[in-house]
Amino acid sequence: MVVQSTYAPNDSHPHLRTLNSCLAPVYSVLGRSVITAEGLPAAEPYGTSLVAGRLSEFHASQCGYCTPGFTVACHAALHNAAAAAADGGAAATAMPATPDDGSLLRALDGNLCRCTGYRPIVAACRSLAAEVTDIEDLCRRRTAGATAAGSISPVAATACGSGTADVTSSGSSGSSGSCGDSSCTEISLGSRQVLKVPRSLEQLVSEAGRLAAAAAGRSTPSWRLVAGHTGHGVFKDWPLEEEVLVAVAEVPELRRLEIMAANDGLVNCEEATSAREVSYHLHIGACTTLERLAAHLAHRAQGVAAEEEVAVAAVAPGGTGADNNSDVAGTAFGVRQWAAETSAHLYRIAGRHVRNSATVGGNLVLARERSLPSDVATLLAAAGSEVELVVVSSDPETHGSVRRADLLEFVTGAAPSLPPGASYILTAVRVPLPPADPRVRFWSHRIAERYSNAAAVANAAVLVRLSAAEEAEGPRPVVEEVRIVVGVRTPGGGASAPGAPHDSLSEHNAAKLKDATVVLLDGWQCLRAKAAEAALRNQAATAATVVAALEALAATDLAEVTAAASATAAAAGDEEKAVAAVTIAQGLVAQGLMACLGLSPTPPAAEIQAAPGVDVIKAAAGVENGDGDGGADCVHGAAKVAVHEGVNGDADGAAEAAVIISANGHGITAHSRPDQQPQQPQQPQCSSMSSPPPRRMPPPPLVEGRQFLTDAVPELLPVTQPVPKLGSKLQASGTALYTEDVPVHRGALYGAFVLSARACGRLAGIDASPAVSLPGVVRFLGASDLAGVGPGGALNACEKPPVGAGAAEKTFLEVGGKCEFAGQLVGVVLADSHVAAQRGAKAVHLMYDTSTDGDAPLLSIADAVRARSFYQLPGLLPSFPSGNTYGDKNSVLSKGGSDVDKVLSTAAAPAAAALTAAALGGGERDESTAIAGVPGSASPPPRPSTLRVVCGRYFTPSQLHFYMETQSAVAWPDEDGCVVVHSSCQGPDFVQGGVSAALQLPLNKVLVRCRRVGGGFGGKLTFARRVAVVAAVAAVATGRQVRISVPRNTDAVMWGGRCETDVSYVAVLDDCPAEDGDPDASSSNVHGQQDQTSSPHQRRAPPRFRALDIHAVMMGGAQKDISFIDAMGMIAAVDSVYDIPAFRLEVALARCNLPPRTAVRGPGEINATMVIEQIMEHVAAELKVDPEALREANFLKAPPPPPPPSPEPDCANDVATAPGQGVAAAAPMEPVVTTALGKTIPLRQYTLPYMWSRLQRVADWERIKAAVESFNATSPWRKRGVAMIPTRRVGGAAQGYTMYRGKKPAYVSLLQDGTVQVACHGVEMGQGLWTKVAQVAALTLSEVLPHSRRPLDISFIRICDNSTELLPHSGVTGASTTSEIACAAVRLACLQLLKNLREFALPKMAGREDFGLRAPLSAFAWGGQSDLPESSRGVAVGPLAPQYHVMGVALGVVELSAFHPTHIKRFLKTFLHLRQVDILTGDRRVLRSDIMFDLGRPVNPAVDLGQVEGAFVQGLGMMLQEEVTYDSTTGALVQNSTWNYKPPSVSCVPQQLNVHMLNDAPLASEGPVSSKACGEPPLLLSAVVLAALQRATAAARTATSTSVGSTSNGGDGSGAGQVMKGSGGGSARSGFVPLLAPATVERVRVMCGREGAAEIIKRNLSNW
Ligand SMILES: Cc1cc2nc3c(=O)[nH]c(=O)nc-3n(C[C@H](O)[C@H](O)[C@H](O)COP(=O)(O)OP(=O)(O)OC[C@H]3O[C@@H](n4cnc5c(N)ncnc54)[C@H](O)[C@@H]3O)c2cc1C
Ligand code: FES
Repeated sequence: MVVQSTYAPNDSHPHLRTLNSCLAPVYSVLGRSVITAEGLPAAEPYGTSLVAGRLSEFHASQCGYCTPGFTVACHAALHNAAAAAADGGAAATAMPATPDDGSLLRALDGNLCRCTGYRPIVAACRSLAAEVTDIEDLCRRRTAGATAAGSISPVAATACGSGTADVTSSGSSGSSGSCGDSSCTEISLGSRQVLKVPRSLEQLVSEAGRLAAAAAGRSTPSWRLVAGHTGHGVFKDWPLEEEVLVAVAEVPELRRLEIMAANDGLVNCEEATSAREVSYHLHIGACTTLERLAAHLAHRAQGVAAEEEVAVAAVAPGGTGADNNSDVAGTAFGVRQWAAETSAHLYRIAGRHVRNSATVGGNLVLARERSLPSDVATLLAAAGSEVELVVVSSDPETHGSVRRADLLEFVTGAAPSLPPGASYILTAVRVPLPPADPRVRFWSHRIAERYSNAAAVANAAVLVRLSAAEEAEGPRPVVEEVRIVVGVRTPGGGASAPGAPHDSLSEHNAAKLKDATVVLLDGWQCLRAKAAEAALRNQAATAATVVAALEALAATDLAEVTAAASATAAAAGDEEKAVAAVTIAQGLVAQGLMACLGLSPTPPAAEIQAAPGVDVIKAAAGVENGDGDGGADCVHGAAKVAVHEGVNGDADGAAEAAVIISANGHGITAHSRPDQQPQQPQQPQCSSMSSPPPRRMPPPPLVEGRQFLTDAVPELLPVTQPVPKLGSKLQASGTALYTEDVPVHRGALYGAFVLSARACGRLAGIDASPAVSLPGVVRFLGASDLAGVGPGGALNACEKPPVGAGAAEKTFLEVGGKCEFAGQLVGVVLADSHVAAQRGAKAVHLMYDTSTDGDAPLLSIADAVRARSFYQLPGLLPSFPSGNTYGDKNSVLSKGGSDVDKVLSTAAAPAAAALTAAALGGGERDESTAIAGVPGSASPPPRPSTLRVVCGRYFTPSQLHFYMETQSAVAWPDEDGCVVVHSSCQGPDFVQGGVSAALQLPLNKVLVRCRRVGGGFGGKLTFARRVAVVAAVAAVATGRQVRISVPRNTDAVMWGGRCETDVSYVAVLDDCPAEDGDPDASSSNVHGQQDQTSSPHQRRAPPRFRALDIHAVMMGGAQKDISFIDAMGMIAAVDSVYDIPAFRLEVALARCNLPPRTAVRGPGEINATMVIEQIMEHVAAELKVDPEALREANFLKAPPPPPPPSPEPDCANDVATAPGQGVAAAAPMEPVVTTALGKTIPLRQYTLPYMWSRLQRVADWERIKAAVESFNATSPWRKRGVAMIPTRRVGGAAQGYTMYRGKKPAYVSLLQDGTVQVACHGVEMGQGLWTKVAQVAALTLSEVLPHSRRPLDISFIRICDNSTELLPHSGVTGASTTSEIACAAVRLACLQLLKNLREFALPKMAGREDFGLRAPLSAFAWGGQSDLPESSRGVAVGPLAPQYHVMGVALGVVELSAFHPTHIKRFLKTFLHLRQVDILTGDRRVLRSDIMFDLGRPVNPAVDLGQVEGAFVQGLGMMLQEEVTYDSTTGALVQNSTWNYKPPSVSCVPQQLNVHMLNDAPLASEGPVSSKACGEPPLLLSAVVLAALQRATAAARTATSTSVGSTSNGGDGSGAGQVMKGSGGGSARSGFVPLLAPATVERVRVMCGREGAAEIIKRNLSNW
């Protein structure tokens, strides 16, 4: 990301415009001043830019790959606000002098970070926003000699380009450019491509005419207009390959944005004139950017005079003249209200950096030509706009003629009619401005996966003119005119508008058959709801009218879309999406009509009374006096934030806006603003129609929260101190180097992968000749070329054959080989540039033979189960016994406690495996055994009345790694047959082994190096090896340096992510005793006669588990890779902390024709956590007990105290007592807690019960729960859910999974100048490994320093790149344990150095002034935690010491926009007394999350805090929005780009995120390294969000309205439900239906009921 500086006339400071550099071709910034993160002005005391320094200080950089982008975005926001203030333009631009939260949200909404969870980034930016009040602040503290590039001198900003118009690297000559003159510039872009830059409309039209004439008769287009170039960000597979590009953005006429008189002969749109009296229109030049338009309208919305516009209007042809100024101002009411809506909506399109370039014209053309899901079209069409075009034709008769058309007709292709063969230049949009009449209302909204930077699922805009109630007959006004425009996503590209030129979409999607990297696009329909409008026109503005309109909408306007979308979606197996998009669209229209017609109910008093619940949810964290953490402190809490009120917030928003949350370093206080006290119910406003439109969910406030860190231990400093991460300033300032930055020599080659597009059949042939003939392409390298590579030939293998685990994995699919998955590597194209290589890769022609092995690919777990396609797990997990469901060795079993089968048999319950068999049709099922509840099975035997059975099915989804730095490698041949490889990897050893195997080189001839990695999350453990192997083989084959940087969409389709899991479970519980007054008590425990009521009251005491049987089939992908780790993780974590006397887990790993699955942060463990917590939710719902009480009742219990009793406090049972302090001498027989599957936890390390109750106390759990209940009881349009879960991550060799994975190397050297060089195991990839290692080294080496010089400043310590040459045998970085191991090894090496120093060096240096570390000594250590001298005093359990379990608890509160039928009824009864209404859209927000974690004693608590927050938010993405699906035809990944894969952005994180680290936690070791794994365990806690959302969804649903998913599953063993796409098995009786992850807006909407808004209202209307 970069900034480009621009000047407005009369401004002395430039405006900084942020750009996505990947969307901005170099020529687009020719002659302009562009600044990168490196070029921002340095400021003291940082030595970097102010923003970079602050980001570092706030621990806001982890892997750092995204950080320069945030630096630039924040700098630009600060600069622009301050510049506007300095130039006196703040008022004119409605921009606050310092960015407020809303401005910051918009400034950062186009940036993504996969590591941090955004909280520290926001905190850093916020702190600057409060400080930087002056433009000089950004550079006034400049360090001497530093350039002031970021302050942008006017000279630099206005200077022309170099005068060299050739911007290609290849140096093709071109005609000379010009700047500042008015001639049309022509620039050579190389590859026979030319850019023309006309400077006037006349030039543009005549240039276009010449090009059209030259192109006449040619079949392929030879020229194209370009505006902001952002279309490429959506249509990534639409190469810009025309011979001539014509830039339109420099044409001044196309950038006009001004108000003009209407009725000047230009307005001919019937509806526009009949809708209202049009006085003025807004002329929007086609090249107006979306950001400029949004800012302009925001400015108008605030009612600030825009003198320059009025002035322009006065002088422009057709302008209003000065006399009309007052009239323009007089339209402020109408304009203001319309402008506010439109501006707010525009600000949600894409991200700031796209909006800064994207033009209105480009958007509308893409909507017309390519079915872009355009918000601009919906917004402007609803306002009655028209477009103005100039015809471009080879026919001089028609060329240059002007056409006008209704905007919607233009977008849908219905108008204007163009001469045959002609094209057009869109010159302007004219928007009639609403008159100054409060009876005219405009409303618009969109629903998308993220608040911003995500394409809409649906959008709608409504314009209404009402009669004056006083003049109309009756108390209600009449709808005089109405315009409704709706946009709907049509999955799979179906349902193009009739006549729309959208064939290109299906053509585009068909390309996926040949190219797996193609980004599949959904269709989009933008339509005028004419039937709904007709139902409204001349009718009284009542609810009944709205119902009629909604019925017409559904039955007529949306009917075609519904049918077409359903057909397409059903074919793609995606029916849920089709249902959701249409119902969301209906919901939006209902919401808009209610708003515009004044059916805007004021919340009844009760609802307003409930509003304080919001305060509790947002502000309760830590409100209690003192947190009790013994002085725990915030890291950076200083912030003061007023919760937003959106342009259209609703009643809840208003209530929220009444809360000001002030957070400072030590506390949070909440109070109501005096001017916004709870209101009294208002009198009906409808008759006067003077009330403002209702408010919607406001923009999400930026995250804030409190962080409670562990205390620093003075004698261990700098260990335990939150020192800033090493290298973070480099990262934030853009100067940190990644593999991508390794300089390449002249003549280097670039590689691009050629991939199979099929998941079945055989590769019949490869024709690379079309690629090789392209300019720049050097050669193609595939499997058949390997024999000739290098002196000994290369093997088609990217690893050494693993012992006992089958053949080595192949590098390339060879001709004749079976296509295993779409995305499989076939070969690599090598070219002299990245672009040429990519182009070449797409040109390679692959042939397939589907006649043999042409069976349908296995694309799901169900497919694999039916085909009996499994990996043999016991071979991979030798410590587990084999299961028997799928035959020999196809599954593993883990059992604990007494015999599960016996309990199941007593309870007459089915086995979990039988449920899977019944549901998936696979596996062996003994039909002779009666299986309770399984359809088709014999009648179940009677069940003892003392037992309850709950069984169900569940599904956990996949998740992509989505590291910000995609896979990359650079390799070159070195002397003596050696090869050097730089690889972005998590294990240089792995890469070394792979390259050595492929090239048949000895290991010592392969040098692999890695400085840092821009995010790995498991994706660079094994996959990085494959990229590096190809680079190395290609380098040897060509004798040249080869760089491979894998593009995002290629990276996504080649590697699978997390294993999905299909789970069946059967739980047997003791019957729960009924409490007094339970009406169901007498019948509730009889099989088949459960209570039928849906009373929300939880009346029963929580029951205890007797047995739990879980059968899990995981998805293993087409190659096994290391997906077995997921199975291990499942076994390791599934028993969590629950005391279940008989527990059985059987896991199988399915082999499917999908990209290989591998480890993703928390592999298997997150699946396990979701499963066990879902079982808790299900049991609680079935048995009507409080879910948290159920969990608590089943926590592991402490064993009876051993004799003699332990002197340590027992934190497990005494919740009021802090856990153990430090470590005492290890008791020889320390009591342990044993988990259900047999893992042992030293009792005093079992901190979970303590944390459970403690978090409840500090977070004020009871108040939050009560507030949520009260909110739900009184809120008709939103529901909330709150949940709390525990997690445990395992250690223990018994599970084949030790936290400390043995010994690792470290090499520490003292250099003669007193600096220290450290080489250690582990790759720095954001987890702070370097920083922790440096802290431990500094502490340890300090021992030889005089006390006055302790601790050693860690700036003296440098951590070396990870290199197989310097430190072989480093293994991989993963499992969250590398930092601990590396710290331990470095400490051992330092201790060795100390010994040597004391023995040999210090005696010689004694008495010298520079006494210290200036002795040239080095020490090597090979060891781990258990070798540290202090570990002998650590807690030991048997021979496995030291080991630990990582435990944490979390609660989450979510909000869901819901339209509850019972409340509708009430609303209909009382709407006259109400003011506002919302409607169900599936929209959801995480309001608050509180986390408490036992991380031992962190080496660096700030780094660990970052891991906790980042992991939690990454998990949140999996729970809510990161959808992974595969094309049912090709088996290729659908969500392979940022366009359709949606990790959390800054607007998605919990609005309040509080993290408590358990202070003074019991230690595993007394030494300085006594921390616990923190990289992955916190991700497991994100399951709490799904549980909370599930409860909110349940609250939104009623038995009468629900027709969701499968409800056939008997909660009492009465049925085996199906795992639906949207839901797991559920129970008809309890109404329990699992909400599957990711809970996208579409899925949530369907889960709330499939009925449209009209049906819901109508059904209840009769009772009204
Ligand atoms: C990440 C991302 C997210 C987005 N999200 C949204 C969203 O949520 N909602 C939404 O509405 N849009 C969204 N967009 C689309 C965005 O608004 C469009 O990319 C943009 O408006 C196109 O404008 P442009 O100036 O960059 O067009 P370009 O990319 O330069 O051109 C696009 C097409 O329009 C043609 N063209 C351009 N100007 C003219 C003209 N004056 N006359 C004739 N033809 C012309 C070009 O020849 C080309 O065919 C998103 C884009 C991105 C990259
Ligand atoms: S720090 Fe943001 S992606 Fe890694």
